[in-house]
Amino acid sequence: MDPAGKHVVVTGAASGIGRALAVAFHNRGARGVVVADINDVGAQHVAAGLNRVRPGSAIGIGADVGTAAGNEALIDAAQATFGAVDLFFANAGVGMGSGDLLSSTDFDWDMSLAVNVKAHIWAARRLLPEWLERGEGYFASTASAAGLLSQIGSAPYSVTKHAAVAFAEWLSITYGDAGLRVSCLCPMGVNTDMLNAGDIGDSTAGDVVRAAGVVLEPEQVAAIALDAIEGGQFLILPHAEVLTYFQRKGADYDRWLAGMRRLQARVAAS
Ligand SMILES: NC(=O)c1ccc[n+]([C@@H]2O[C@H](COP(=O)([O-])OP(=O)(O)OC[C@H]3O[C@@H](n4cnc5c(N)ncnc54)[C@H](O)[C@@H]3O)[C@@H](O)[C@H]2O)c1
Repeated sequence: MDPAGKHVVVTGAASGIGRALAVAFHNRGARGVVVADINDVGAQHVAAGLNRVRPGSAIGIGADVGTAAGNEALIDAAQATFGAVDLFFANAGVGMGSGDLLSSTDFDWDMSLAVNVKAHIWAARRLLPEWLERGEGYFASTASAAGLLSQIGSAPYSVTKHAAVAFAEWLSITYGDAGLRVSCLCPMGVNTDMLNAGDIGDSTAGDVVRAAGVVLEPEQVAAIALDAIEGGQFLILPHAEVLTYFQRKGADYDRWLAGMRRLQARVAAS
């Protein structure tokens, strides 16, 4: 899909990858960019920057996508401003529950499920009827390389990112022939607040990501994501090596698990 002239909604767009995505869509000529985030002030700030470049081309909306009502209200507000949504990018995410299974709480699990998975379901459920009626629509999501491989050091993150990949796959299989395009962004390390601080950033999980390969800038990830979306590509892998790891996992699961245990031990020892 060519973003020029399109109405695009990006969640988690007050910072990091989401902010870079919103800016990239705007740079490539999107007619209306909705910058959505639970951080209302941050969302307004990003939208104001876009409006300085092209007045009336963006709005910032404070939205908690971890609830059904938050997604409904966000999409209502987006449609009221720019009309039908052409592309929805479910990018907001949380990294919680680091450590072993016994140290991740029900709160970690519930919040991770709500923001990393159910947000995608709520948004798609709301947007699908009109996309199917129009015979076109684009649903993109940010999962993670952890959704194809695993996140050493966080069970809630691993499980919910796998679920996000599974949901995107399912949407593509079920509605691809009805005109829905789906992309799933699965980066490894990206230089954002999530990797640099907080539950994931300050734990073994963050150490593993930083040790596993090159940490990309959000702008690099956004540029790769937009190129892939222009080509209608499903799986977006800003770190090319993730494809090799994914293939190795599929080729010999037990060998791959042994390798992951070695990586975990190496990081824990360092
Ligand atoms: N940084 C990495 O290394 C990395 C790697 C793979 C995948 N990801 C994924 O990329 C996405 C973006 O994360 P990021 O790295 O840019 O981190 P980030 O912390 O900079 O951005 C996450 C944004 O999501 C927002 N958010 C959190 N909960 C929300 C909610 N309930 N409703 C609305 N907004 C909410 C935050 O306010 C924040 O602005 C996430 O889904 C994350 O899991 C990140």
